[in-house]
Formats: sequence, structure tokens, C-alpha cells
Amino acid sequence: MAELDKTQRDVGVPGDWTYASAPESRDIVHIEDRYGYFVGGKWLEPSETYETIAPRDEEPLAAIGQATAEDVGRAVAAARGAYADGWSALPGSERAKYLFRIARLLQERSREFAVLESLNGGKPIKESRDVDIPLAAAHFFYYAGWADKLEYAFPNRRPRPVGVAGQIIPWNFPLLMLAWKVAPALACGNTVILKPAETTPLTALLFCDVLRQAELPPGVVNIVTGDGRTGAAIVESEDVDKIAFTGSTEVGKEIQRRLAGSGKRLTLELGGKAANIVFDDAALDQAVEGIVNGIYFNQGHVCCAGSRLFVQESIYEPLVAKLERRLTTLRVGDPLDKNTDVGAINSAAQLEKIQELVASGKEEGAEIFQPPCVLPEKGYWFAPTVFTNVAQSYRIAQEEIFGPVLSVLTFRTPEEALEKANNTPYGLSAGVWTEKGSRILWMAQRLRAGVVWANTYNRFDPGSPFGGYKESGFGREGGRHGLEPYLRFDE
Ligand code: NAI
Ligand code: MG
Repeated sequence: MAELDKTQRDVGVPGDWTYASAPESRDIVHIEDRYGYFVGGKWLEPSETYETIAPRDEEPLAAIGQATAEDVGRAVAAARGAYADGWSALPGSERAKYLFRIARLLQERSREFAVLESLNGGKPIKESRDVDIPLAAAHFFYYAGWADKLEYAFPNRRPRPVGVAGQIIPWNFPLLMLAWKVAPALACGNTVILKPAETTPLTALLFCDVLRQAELPPGVVNIVTGDGRTGAAIVESEDVDKIAFTGSTEVGKEIQRRLAGSGKRLTLELGGKAANIVFDDAALDQAVEGIVNGIYFNQGHVCCAGSRLFVQESIYEPLVAKLERRLTTLRVGDPLDKNTDVGAINSAAQLEKIQELVASGKEEGAEIFQPPCVLPEKGYWFAPTVFTNVAQSYRIAQEEIFGPVLSVLTFRTPEEALEKANNTPYGLSAGVWTEKGSRILWMAQRLRAGVVWANTYNRFDPGSPFGGYKESGFGREGGRHGLEPYLRFDE
């Protein structure tokens, strides 16, 4: 035995299996010191700026314009001009060419976009590289395909563009949300004024360079930056025909109140508190992967995150044990490291919100589990967290946390699972894990959620419509349904 030990030591079998660091180089990205607004194909100087940072270490990245109502007015005028000056009358096949170009340019420059997205937003490079950027390009490809087929998508209804679309997006999927909004709007012949979220403006600003390369006519897409005040100026602008908003339910409600009676079109994609439901016949190891993907993907900054896990009582113990073991293998750290699973929290404000809700969970009596992990000292970080012993009345079971925090609850029968799952003001998404096809259909018909995933979670495809019920908003993005908000019809 001693002899064997000795030989093994001699052949140099590694004793330490921890990952070495594998940082993606950021040299590919060039960040300007200061950015203005992209209006009518030109850069306008901002009168006031704020600093955008890297949430992994709070490094300042650039000065960003805080657009005033006047700046917004210029951008809306540019969009109106481009709309009247040819874009809306261009044949669909010509509009498609621009969209295809944009899609191909995003693919060509995907590494640059992925690095910038992770740097400015904190998400792991693995996700921006494999999910955000490829899906953004896929959306442009997909809607390019519809641009000359609108008459077939809506036969005998004479589809026509709506006009100028004001689009306000959040910070959790900056470039992807831009693609979800800009691609269908342009495919239908509208022009756009878009505002990225204040913490993550950089990929939207880099996208302006893609528009230049694609030779999109000036004014068809205009990008202004700034916080909620700029967003409110877009909403209030007289000459905008449609607002598309993704963000908090609170701001969504406020926008709906503002627009009531104005005749402007509105779609809202708001918060969620999705149920991910695991039945006792489900393949447990696969379910654990789906649960992890459902709540720790993008640090849980996902509106459709599977933040409430419902486990059938008979498998509660083995499932939670497997889940906690799996959590200990998640690597939390530098977003630019290719081995990172969980990156930085997007902002100080979001971190504070997560911390406050987690404290309330402990206070109300839930049991907390966090794997041992060393969090970097600078920047915004939160360890992956599981709460067990959660009652439905606890805030962590009711409110959207928008962080890497899972609440585990139990059920006995499908009826009970359904009742608990639907017991929320939200209704964006849900997951069902079972071997039984009939049960998947039974559940999917009764879950009050816009998307139901079966034996998988957080899957996206440009061809599939996405959107909510109840306080998760209304209107659909993606698929043929996603064209409708950007079209008028002869009814
Ligand atoms: P938010 O709703 O304030 O921000 C989203 C976007 O709306 C940003 O571009 C922001 O500048 C803009 N905005 C803010 N106030 C506005 C106003 N009065 N009029 C027009 N536009 C306005 O969301 P925030 O404060 O960043 O996050 C708060 C919570 O909202 C998060 O913790 C999360 O629970 C939820 N949220 C949900 C998202 C989703 O994907 N459905 C995305 C982001 C946040
Ligand atoms: Mg806000």
C-alpha cells in the first residue's frame, strides 16, 4: 500500500482540483471617457453627466449623459423626421436588409459586446458570451425575416407601422432587452427612441456604432441615456405613439397612469415571483440543475427567475440535500473569469434591496443556507442563498427579490401546488418538473403565467412569445405576437 502511494505521488497526479483563474481579456473593448446622445445619426453633447462603473470593483468606466426633456425632445423629433422621411414607406424587404446587417454585425463583434456587457453589468462572461449576445443577434435575424411578410403574419388586416416608439429598458439584460425592443419596431416600419438603464448604458452606446456600420438611415434609432427622469420625459413626450417598458411593477403602474386616456399604445413587462414546481416523479438531478439555472442565472436578476421552489413533500429532503450540495460547487467571483457561475450584483441599490429582504426572511423565521464562499472585498456581492422553512406569508415568498435567493416551500397534491403557485400578484413564468406528460399539460393550462417551462427553465427563443399576466404586465415580445404592438390594423 505504501508502495502504491509512493508511485502515485511520483506520477504527479494533481491533488488540488480548484480552478485556476481564466480571465477574458478586456483589451478588445474601447471605452470612451465620455458619451453623449445618439440622435439623428450624430452624437449630441450632454449638458450634465454621471459616472457609470463596473459593479465587480466599482471602477469608474465613463461619464454618461443625463438627458433632459429638451434632449429627449430632439431625439423624438429626429425619430419623427426619419419616420416621415422614408423609413415607414420603405418596402419590408429593404428594412429587412438593415436588420440582417445589424444581426451579422452583432455576431461579428460578439466578443467585444460580451466583455463590455459583463464589465458594465457584472454578469458572468459565460452568460453574456453564450446567452445575451447570441440571443440579441438571433432576435434581429428573426424579425428581419418578418419585415417583408407582415401581410402573411396578419392576413387581410392591412398591417401598418404605429409611428415613433419610446422604449425604456432595464439593467439585467441590457443588449438583449434592446434587441427585444428595437428589432420588432424596425421590422414593422417604426422609428425608435430608446433609453438604457442608468447603470448599464455602455452596450447600447456601442450598438450605435453597429448602426453606423449598418448604414441605418439617421434618426431611425436614437439613443438617450439617463435615469428615471429621462424615462419619464420619454413617456410624457407628446410626439411618441407607443411606449414599451421593461422594469419594476411600481414604475410600470406609474407609466400606465400617465398614459391613461392619451391614446398612446403601451406594453409593460414587469416583475415576477415565479413558481418552479417539482413533483416526486421528476428526475431529481436534472431538476436540481434547472432550479440552479432558474434562480442563480444572472445573479437572479431575472424577471422570470424561479424564485419560489415548490417541492412535493415526499422528495423534500433528498432534493434539498442535493440542491445544497450543488450550491457549494457554484463559483462566485470575477464576471470576466470564464469559470465564474455567479457574478457581481448590478448596483449598490440592488444589493441593499437583496440584503434587506434576506434579513426579513431570517427575522420571520426561515432557515438560511449559504455555501462557504469568499466574496471579493470591493464591489457588490451576494452569496447564493437558499431559504427553507418558508411560509407563504413571508415577504421572501411574496416579494420580488431580484437576487440569488431561493425560497423553498412544499406541497402534497397537484391541486395544492397550483393553488400556492398562483397565489401571487405576479404571473410571468412558471416551471413544472415531472415525468408525466398529462400532468405537465394539466398544470400548464391552470398556471396563471405567461410562460410555463416543462422539465427545463429559463429557455428563450426569438420565435416564442414572452410576457405576463396580472401585475407582471401585458403585451407580448418575441414571436409573431411580438409584432402586434408595433402595428396598426384595419379592424
Ligand atoms: P426601474 O423600473 O426603476 O427601472 C427600469 C427602467 O425604467 C430604467 O431604465 C429606469 O431608468 C427607468 N425608469 C425609472 N423610473 C422611471 C419613470 N418614472 N418613468 C420612466 N422610466 C423610468 O427598476 P429599478 O429601480 O432599476 O429596479 C427596482 C426593482 O424592479 C428591481 O429590484 C426588480 O425587482 C425590478 N426590476 C424588474 C425588471 C424586469 O425585468 N421586469 C428589470 C429591472 C428591475
Ligand atoms: Mg427604480
